[in-house]
Amino acid sequence: MRIGTVGNGAMAEALGQHWVRAGHEVMVGGRDPGRAAAVAARIGADSGSLEEASKYGEVVLLALPAEVAVEVLTELELAPGTTLIDCTNAFDHRDFTLAVAAMAESISQAVPHVRVVKAFNLAADAVWRDAPQSFEGAALGVPICADDPAAADLVGTLVRDLGYVPVPAGTLARASLLEATAALAVGIWVTGGDVRTLFPPKAAAFGSTPPTG
Ligand SMILES: NC(=O)c1ccc[n+]([C@@H]2O[C@H](COP(=O)([O-])OP(=O)(O)OC[C@H]3O[C@@H](n4cnc5c(N)ncnc54)[C@H](OP(=O)(O)O)[C@@H]3O)[C@@H](O)[C@H]2O)c1
Repeated sequence: MRIGTVGNGAMAEALGQHWVRAGHEVMVGGRDPGRAAAVAARIGADSGSLEEASKYGEVVLLALPAEVAVEVLTELELAPGTTLIDCTNAFDHRDFTLAVAAMAESISQAVPHVRVVKAFNLAADAVWRDAPQSFEGAALGVPICADDPAAADLVGTLVRDLGYVPVPAGTLARASLLEATAALAVGIWVTGGDVRTLFPPKAAAFGSTPPTG
């Protein structure tokens, strides 16, 4: 498939390199042609402006700082039906609270003609860049929130291209849970904790009540 990245930073490069390797055509889009071209050259992609990348294909990775994402997007005139992957995290790095309560939903309201899919926000760029990694023998699960099942499936394919496992996590109304989870996890990691210790395995999660769903 054809994938444009709106942004030429760490996330665009980390994810884009795998999609190129998997055989997709990727255009790295940036506001500075030189920076976009340098990233594109490193990963074997094309480069262009933000506008060009946003119109390049059926999928657009939104890889901008959350504080500018909506403003930039509304200037881009994405084609109706485009699948827009929102990997943004809008947390305040001073105290790991959310600066925007529901980023993916805000994006969807700003560009209602596109199919917004929340994914790739839970792990750092190095986890994507160095994919596939397995942790304690299990491939990383990547939660996906979307209202459009076809768009969710498409992003699931792009998760598998990294060697990771897509995990359906509900509609876009639940994307804010992923955003809050990222803020919680990073806040715990930076203060020396390990979020991997927070949850029991599924078999133990419900005690004597069998889990459903
Ligand atoms: N890095 C991570 O570990 C990670 C993990 C999960 C989610 N995320 C989220 O992913 C998103 C991208 O993160 P990143 O690490 O890729 O960021 P980054 O490396 O800082 O790159 C940000 C990109 O946004 C562009 N940009 C910044 N301000 C802009 C503006 N006003 N107009 C147009 N373009 C602008 C930058 O362009 P220039 O190069 O021209 O400055 C750059 O291409 C963020 O929302 C972040 O929260 C990041």
